Amino acid sequence: QMSKQLSGKRILVTAAGTREPIDPVRYIGNRSSGKMGYAIAQAAAERGAEVILVSGPSGLPTPPGVSVRRVETALQMRDAVLAEFDTVDAVIKAAAVADYRPELAADHKIKKDGETLTVSLIKNPDILLELGQKKKQQILVGFAAETQELLLHARDKLIKKNLDLIIANDVTLPGAGFNVDTNIVKLIDKSGHVEELPQLSKQQIATIVIDKICAMLTKST
Ligand code: PMT
Repeated sequence: QMSKQLSGKRILVTAAGTREPIDPVRYIGNRSSGKMGYAIAQAAAERGAEVILVSGPSGLPTPPGVSVRRVETALQMRDAVLAEFDTVDAVIKAAAVADYRPELAADHKIKKDGETLTVSLIKNPDILLELGQKKKQQILVGFAAETQELLLHARDKLIKKNLDLIIANDVTLPGAGFNVDTNIVKLIDKSGHVEELPQLSKQQIATIVIDKICAMLTKST
């Protein structure tokens, strides 16, 4: 039946932004609210999938039937994702993972002694890249949040990260991207086919993405 197409499938979704501590009270973060990823988790659960949602801090309620693993940093998100990866059928990475983290998080609150303060950053692991290298039968879906050269950068990430589908997200458009209820995206599959979607609610986009994953999962089994 249409509505329970994903029963028996395990789907891992990541959502929201990571927070990278500077000291016990401060962090480097980003504007991701979790809306896009939570909508995807909900759409997958409505189709009958067993859904694991690895979420950075978000004020959103956990969608019904979804089991959530709460994390803060990119390193914690990586651990939570890798712990599930071998047993899932598909991964959708809507989270906005910090590319860099402070090299050292201070043990105590940094005092405002100097006129300037330098925080040295080091690179975080790219979780999706790692999944692309490890993947066996899993369907891998990524997002590309871009402010310029959308299709070029998105295609590049699709290939480099060994993805089956990438959702290219121009985050400069009003009504798209971070912390709004709608999004404007282009879906690019492995063969390079591009599907441009109009401005839609994040729920509508989630349904379209989950439909694609259904089709890919039923083709490969
Ligand atoms: O949460 P909302 O407020 O609803 O906003 C939604 C969104 C804009 C955050 C979402 O639609 C989106 O575009 N998410 C991806 C944001 C992002 O970090 O994109 P990126 O182009 O930097 O990363 C590319 C892909 O690699 C993403 O799937 C990301 O999860 C993944 N990645 C990135 C860096 C890293 N260290 N590890 C990763 O796994």
